[in-house]
Amino acid sequence: MGCLLSIRNLRIAFHAEDGLVKAADDINLDITEGKTVGLIGETGCGKSVLGLAILRLLPRNASVEGSIYYRGQDILEMNEREMRRLRGKEIALIPQSASTSLNPVLRVGAQIAETLEFHRGLAPRSAQAAATELLRFLELPAVEKTAKWYPHQLSGGMRQRVLAAIGIAGQPSLLIADEPTKGLDASIRTQVVEVLRTLTRETRVTMLLITHDLEVAASLCHEIAVMYAGEIVEHGAAEYVLARPLHPYTRGLLASLPENGLVPIPGHSPSLVDLPQGCKFHSRCAKATKACASARPPLIQINGCAVRCLHAAQGGKSQEGFSHGSLQQKTR
Ligand SMILES: Nc1ncnc2c1ncn2[C@@H]1O[C@H](COP(=O)(O)OP(=O)(O)OP(=O)(O)O)[C@@H](O)[C@H]1O
Ligand SMILES: [Mg+2]
Repeated sequence: MGCLLSIRNLRIAFHAEDGLVKAADDINLDITEGKTVGLIGETGCGKSVLGLAILRLLPRNASVEGSIYYRGQDILEMNEREMRRLRGKEIALIPQSASTSLNPVLRVGAQIAETLEFHRGLAPRSAQAAATELLRFLELPAVEKTAKWYPHQLSGGMRQRVLAAIGIAGQPSLLIADEPTKGLDASIRTQVVEVLRTLTRETRVTMLLITHDLEVAASLCHEIAVMYAGEIVEHGAAEYVLARPLHPYTRGLLASLPENGLVPIPGHSPSLVDLPQGCKFHSRCAKATKACASARPPLIQINGCAVRCLHAAQGGKSQEGFSHGSLQQKTR
């Protein structure tokens, strides 16, 4: 399987009132066709911004440098016609906010049908039928009736599935799902996870899954990329990153889970307007030495994982007892 998306030296900054917000700093990430890659990290670290950048949907105050190759072609160099073909048809986004992303005055079936007409050239009547089929595939109840409802008549989990239906309507090769389980209660969350699992198995779509939820990431992802203050600090196979994390930040994220003792990471993420020198995590890191504060650690490879930490080689053992298996079980 080849590389579907390849992000190279991506930098994103927003020109804001209080200065330049550096939301992505030299991001490099390869996504292999057929894989689900989880992008995890605390709030505000740049996950959604990265997802939006792939579809060139960032607001005007953003400046973007670097390259995002999709099947070898740089998205950042594409013209508007190429972008219209790419969005929804090749790469689709399930946006972060299910409640504000649907049109409140249009029946949900019609919203899905609209996407089917646009991307697959279906006639209105066939599009309606295909929309109902998509709702059935996503296991919504009483699909004929549900298709006629307006977004406000649906539960959070149903709205999330309608957004997933719109996302996959154009049969994209790459799906970016931004926090698809956020704000859902436990049983609905499990349903949405199962829907995403079915989707990746049956449609073989490649997925970039943006989530705070490490259990959801463990359950669905082949690989995990960990983001901290606009940087990817660790990336590798899910079972390595979640069971034998190399970066102290990844270990901190795992240690803060209830099953691992709810040990919070001390301090706060740095302001993206005023980033520290050296390793961006050093002021919160128990392992930090003088060297960590002076120069940005290079990305090194350990056991097939890429990690940006001077002390990563001391880690890599499962001494904290994190269990990838038990994280996975929780969403089953
Ligand atoms: N239009 C904008 N102008 C200025 N700053 C912005 C803009 N959009 C996003 N940011 C900043 O970029 C940073 C990254 O935001 P982003 O939405 O990607 O975070 P996130 O990791 O998705 O967080 P969450 O987990 O809460 O969704 C944040 O500090 C945010 O305030
Ligand atoms: Mg976000």
